[in-house]
Formats: sequence, structure tokens, C-alpha cells
Amino acid sequence: MTGDLSPIDKAKFVAAKRAADFIEDGMRVGLGTGSTAAWLVRCIGEMVRDDGLKIKGVPTSTRTAELARDVGIDVISLDEARWLDLTIDGADEFDGDLNLIKGGGGALLQEKIVATASDRMIVIADIGKEVESLGAFPLPVEVIPFGWQTTQALIEETLISMDVLGRQASLRMNGEVPFITDEGNHILDLHLNRIGNPRQLAMVLNQMPGVVENGLFIDICDTVVIGFGDGRVELRDINEGTVTHDRLDFVESENLFTDLAE
Ligand code: A5P
Repeated sequence: MTGDLSPIDKAKFVAAKRAADFIEDGMRVGLGTGSTAAWLVRCIGEMVRDDGLKIKGVPTSTRTAELARDVGIDVISLDEARWLDLTIDGADEFDGDLNLIKGGGGALLQEKIVATASDRMIVIADIGKEVESLGAFPLPVEVIPFGWQTTQALIEETLISMDVLGRQASLRMNGEVPFITDEGNHILDLHLNRIGNPRQLAMVLNQMPGVVENGLFIDICDTVVIGFGDGRVELRDINEGTVTHDRLDFVESENLFTDLAE
């Protein structure tokens, strides 16, 4: 079945599969959102079913919650878990310091809360997500619907004094209507091209009235597991300063590769 997967899907799968090795019995695990995280949730489901793994999963979106329940993971809320051992999630971009842009799937608010409430955050990604400087991927900013156009204008004005190469913000749409997040908010995508000082930008954005959260994850990610289409994986740990390599085979149960929701 894996023979049908594109190289990028294989890369996402091996990253997710390798990261799942870090999950141990009894852990409370944050479950990310997006196509790479969906592979992870399926891998964990297989470990629950086949190996009797016992964990509690805290999803970062309604769609991850649905998938997690479907594959047999015991799902609890963050308030029930209070604190997590580990969160594993995808990313839209990561740089050499393992700072991230997230929110391409619109779940950045829950993702940031859950990752911050975890002892360790592991990002799973294909090599195409690595960048020298963040910002080619439009930066998602979650804003409340009230006065969103005023918030947009304020953000664009503020960007004039920031170290960025673009300043245009666009309202994310879902067909003809604005995209609505799980919290009932809108997303403004900031087309910045290059972010010179992500830490400063993250702080400035979050000080603006109307802004709920931004998609810059600074000093949150500990480890990145990078997948390649030929089954290789590279693990980089920012705390240990280590880089290790591994290779995975594509021999998995058919269940894992059917009906991937995302
Ligand atoms: C969801 O809101 C995002 O933060 C995702 O984690 C990110 O967009 C990566 O998604 P993919 O794994 O689908 O590329």
C-alpha cells in the first residue's frame, strides 16, 4: 500500500513513525493537527491496538480529536491532563534554532497552548519544511471577528517598523466565507517573505488588541524529526545539540494507509 504514497507522504509517514517511538506507556501526549500529525495519530492507534500501548491523548483540534477516537486512542481534554509529557506536531516551517511557523491548518491556538504545557515538543516534518529564515510561508495570526478589519490595518501599520520583507495581511477564506477556527475566530495570513526577528515579531503581534495568538513558536520545540521520501529520518535535538540518523521500512498494516482523512 505504501507503494501508492507520494515521496512527500512517505517522508511525513517515516517522521511520524520514528517520533512515535518516543511515546511510552502511561504518558499524556499532545496530538498535533495537519497531514503529518494525522500519520502520527494513526501510528499511535496501531500501537494501542497491536501493542497494548496505554496513553492519554490531548488533541489540538476537533479534527484530530475525531481521528484519535476513530483509531482507538483514549482522548482527554487539556484541563483533565493539566500537564503533558510530550507533544508531537507538524510545522509549516522550522529554522536552525527550531523556531517554527505553525497554523497552516488553522489550529495554532490550541497547538501553542498544548505544546507549551508539555515537558517536550517534537516536530515531525518532511525536509521541505526546513528554512534558513522563517517567513516564506505566510504567518497565520488568529484574530477575534469583532473589528477584524481594524486589527488587520493595525497589524499592517505595525509591520512597517518590523524587520520583515512584506506587509500584506489577508483574511483566510473557506470558499466564499471567512475561515472560522475551533475557537470561533478568524485567521489573518501575513505575507512577510522573510522574518528578520521572529522573537520580537511574536511579542509585538500578541500585544495588539484583537490578536488572540500568532503562529510563531519560539523556544517551544525541543526536537525535530525530519523524514525523507526514501525512508531516512534525521533527528535534531536543540537541547542536546545532537543530530542522529535512522532508516525505516515501509512495512505496515494496511489499516494505517487507508482513508487518511487529511
Ligand atoms: C495546523 O494548524 C498546522 O500548524 C500544522 O501543524 C502545519 O500546518 C503542518 O501541517 P502539515 O503536516 O499538513 O504540513
